[in-house]
Amino acid sequence: MTPESLAALHAAHAADPHAFWLNQARRLVWERFPATSGDWSFDRSDFHIRWYGDGVLNLSVNCLDRHLPARADDVALLFEPDEPGTGRAVTYAELHAETCRLANLLKERGVGRGDRVMIYLPMIPEAAAAMLACARIGAVHSVVFGGFSPESLAGRIEDCGARVVVTADEGVRGGKTIPLKANVDEACEIAAGVETVIMLTRTGAEVALREGRDLRYDDHRDRLSIDCPPEPMGAEDPLFILYTSGSTGKPKGVVHTTGGYAVWVATTFDWVFEPRPDDLFWCTADIGWITGHSYTLYGPLMAGVPTVMFDGIPTYPDSSRLWETIDRLGVTILYTAPTAIRALMREGDGPVRKHRRDSLRLLGTVGEPINPEAWRWYHDVVGDGRLPIVDTWWQTETGGVLMTPLPGATRMKPGSATRPLPGIEPLLVDPQGQEIMGDDVSGNLCLRGSWPGQMRTVWGDPQRFIDTYFVTYPGLYFTGDGCRRDADGDYWITGRVDDVINVSGHRIGTAEVESALVAHPLVAEAAVVPAPHDLKGQAIHAFVTLNAGEQGSDPLRAELNAEVRKHIGALAIPERIQFAPGLPKTRSGKIMRRILRKIAEGQLDQLGDTSTLADPGVVEALVRDR
Ligand code: WT7
Repeated sequence: MTPESLAALHAAHAADPHAFWLNQARRLVWERFPATSGDWSFDRSDFHIRWYGDGVLNLSVNCLDRHLPARADDVALLFEPDEPGTGRAVTYAELHAETCRLANLLKERGVGRGDRVMIYLPMIPEAAAAMLACARIGAVHSVVFGGFSPESLAGRIEDCGARVVVTADEGVRGGKTIPLKANVDEACEIAAGVETVIMLTRTGAEVALREGRDLRYDDHRDRLSIDCPPEPMGAEDPLFILYTSGSTGKPKGVVHTTGGYAVWVATTFDWVFEPRPDDLFWCTADIGWITGHSYTLYGPLMAGVPTVMFDGIPTYPDSSRLWETIDRLGVTILYTAPTAIRALMREGDGPVRKHRRDSLRLLGTVGEPINPEAWRWYHDVVGDGRLPIVDTWWQTETGGVLMTPLPGATRMKPGSATRPLPGIEPLLVDPQGQEIMGDDVSGNLCLRGSWPGQMRTVWGDPQRFIDTYFVTYPGLYFTGDGCRRDADGDYWITGRVDDVINVSGHRIGTAEVESALVAHPLVAEAAVVPAPHDLKGQAIHAFVTLNAGEQGSDPLRAELNAEVRKHIGALAIPERIQFAPGLPKTRSGKIMRRILRKIAEGQLDQLGDTSTLADPGVVEALVRDR
């Protein structure tokens, strides 16, 4: 983007927001083009958020059908499995046919508009087809990352009342298999209500099928019609639910609706990546996360840019995997996470330099703050010093990117997401809720006003939506992030200020880990805080108090890890479990997490005032055992 065209976008938004937002909506194919744009109030008494409310469209049409007349046989997605070189290309016509088959099978099983469908799949082309099939018939998909445990899956099935689960026999990651179908079976033992399990084939393993409930897709595929008329959806009809961790309680079902989400993803994909006809776009995110929804799948498909669906990990079979794959496939844009960059940086420049990477024209990063050292390595070594980097800040809740430098228009700064996109109004507030004006300041990051991709509600709990995001700072959306605005007015995200830990770009709620730990019969109490980690960004440090008379030990640590794996998944296993004789508490019994954080960070000279603690002695013990 040129500085002039960026300035023109900002000016157009300032002059006439309504016209500006309707213009963005013209990127899509609508059955009925909306006359309205945004309509919202963040006031408790009249809370609502609506975008393009009178518009009618279908997202699968925007991803597939619109490309068929001219480009049916062009590549829509490239499947890159765990084992390099064993992938295949899928054209728009093929993806359209697969989507319609799955849509028809879902319909046969009674799925229709508004019904929730759970998707628990590896990164196979049929996973894209399954999401698009839901969109086609107006069903609401809820994708659960394959690394989550059966119990987590069950919790989500129950929360959204899904009657259908789409899964695969097994997943394969880094040479290891993941028993997806067996996990679904286990989840269905816990959660009631699942009537149909559609099982796709990934490895062809022998797995048990339950009569009446389970369908092997391969047994039905050939008889299913490749025609399925798209359901005309209202712009505000829900498109998907994606569960994400917050500071309290169980994960929230973040609801995104059809029209606004699609407009925001199409708009940001265009502004941030400026797609060209000969691009091959590779976002390494799994569809189990919002990045996978917006930029592995929907963004590139709407733009008509082929997208890589990567079912592996950056370090398998070795740490040159990304670079080898980029050369073999001819990837032009790489969008990945700081945690992957740091892990590969540790392996040195050799694995990178072995490969040419000359097809690349743009690099991107997402998911957590990128430390300047990793940014420089990404820029100097991976990008040979010639490629711009988009450091994109956003959240599950925001649907798409909100802040990033735009190549050509914004000066890049290692570690800074720099500036908001047109139409986005960030502000910093102090703990009293006062806006902090001027530059070279820090505060909590809020947003004024709405944008099309904003989440609309928490599934089944609209009050929780309001309480979580709009009560701390009335009239504003609170992101949960801390942030600095430097002397030039550029933004630097400093990380979560709530009880969310960002481990390798995965959001983990401290409360969830704590309740998994206290589920162990010997545990009296647990408190979980983040600790800095070279590769993961943040790691989980758990303080655990045992029942009177019990002793901490490594075998007990293993049992506690197993507890976390069972209740949440391996991704939430603590880096460190510290057995604690007691936890620092105020006289009213509140755990002083601030002190625990400092202990976990090793900042022992910054523990602050401990004199108000009920028993100041516990801190000394924790510091000693660190
Ligand atoms: C949190 C949202 C964005 C989609 C993937 C993660 C952190 C995200 C950046 C960035 C600094 C970032 C924030 C945010 N974050 N991108 N470029 N720079 N921090 O989505 O799981 O909803 O997590 O990730 O702390 O609040 P998510």
